[in-house]
Amino acid sequence: MNEDEMVVTPWEVRGKIDYDRLIKEFGTERITPDLKQRMYKITKEKHVMLERDYFFSHRDLNWILDEYDKKNKFVLYTGRGPSGHTHIGHLPTWIFTKWMQDRFDTRLYFQMTNDEKFVFESHLNLEDVRKFTYENTLDLLALGFEPENTFIIQDIEHIDLMYEIAVQVAKKVTFSSAKAVFGFDNSMNIGGIWFPAMQAVPAFIHSWVYGKKTPCVIPCAIDQDPYWRVTRDVAERIGYYKPASIQNQFIPGLKEGGKMSASDPMSTIFTTDTIKLAKKKVMNAFTGGRATVEEQRRLGANPDICSVFKYYEFMFMPDDKDLADIGRKCRGGEILCGECKQILAPMMTEFLEKHQATREEVKDRVDEFSAARLRDELKR
Ligand code: TYM
Repeated sequence: MNEDEMVVTPWEVRGKIDYDRLIKEFGTERITPDLKQRMYKITKEKHVMLERDYFFSHRDLNWILDEYDKKNKFVLYTGRGPSGHTHIGHLPTWIFTKWMQDRFDTRLYFQMTNDEKFVFESHLNLEDVRKFTYENTLDLLALGFEPENTFIIQDIEHIDLMYEIAVQVAKKVTFSSAKAVFGFDNSMNIGGIWFPAMQAVPAFIHSWVYGKKTPCVIPCAIDQDPYWRVTRDVAERIGYYKPASIQNQFIPGLKEGGKMSASDPMSTIFTTDTIKLAKKKVMNAFTGGRATVEEQRRLGANPDICSVFKYYEFMFMPDDKDLADIGRKCRGGEILCGECKQILAPMMTEFLEKHQATREEVKDRVDEFSAARLRDELKR
């Protein structure tokens, strides 16, 4: 197996990621400057994650904006598979989702796929996935979401709200197409084969509850795209709009290559890490540095392959001047990697300290966000 070979599936992301190739292979579209301008006309402000192409790919966003202009508003849908603690790489998508929610003044459905993680991960039992659903929910709420327009769907607990849509989806997806899209083989348990029907449901739930076809936009990393291909293929055949999506790149792990992923704890900063441990992980991060100080001073380093620089770019340096400045110093050999990490470490730990304090504050508010409220809507 070639270590550099690119693999991007909902279960595995590794190798050197070629985002242009993903757009081609997945059949999505690049977010163009024109499309950004169209969004900004409504949002009245730019977003650094769009400006720097962290969100780089989409499906049907122009159509979503056409409908929005016609006063046919969309809902947002994103989610999390609660297989462990949230890591820093999960947060930018949710931060951007909150921005879209505020700026377009719209509702968010957030799916916690505790069923997915139970059936796919042999080491997790029901108690584990319930615990991580709760823990991950705290991370979401700590980003400032409000219950009025945020509905958290927990698959196992809210199955009564999902099943009617799920069976409609499942009936239209053959095993051979699930195998082709997801690479399932005969060893997959039947829970796994069924699960794509469950991940499709929140794209339609608003339309189902309120009895009115409603557009839906899904912000997520591009690894989830196989689900949307299946969901879109089925949508119109069961009476709904195809969901649109807006897709982000991967926040890299702190080691070379791949995305930040819980399966490699030392390359991953969890939101629950102690400040000391987070700092240690930053200080051990992979960079684009040279073998010796002398070489680095002489030849400069390479921010394009550096995980530390990616954190500046996508999370911690919203000011373009600051980013350009550190990029220039890096390429010019003016700053060494150790010094650069010393800049990131306090940014990371300050963020974590604040996030962890807010997590504490939202602990008793989780129920306010429950999609169980939709049961009352259905009775009306
Ligand atoms: P999960 O829990 O693997 O990931 C949750 C979200 O985070 C994104 N993501 C990343 N983004 C940037 N950098 C990374 N290193 C990184 N790692 C993960 C994922 O793309 C995802 O957007 N099956 C899903 C749960 C789910 C879902 C959804 C996700 C259900 N419905 C709708 C997105 C949208 C899962 O296991 O995601």
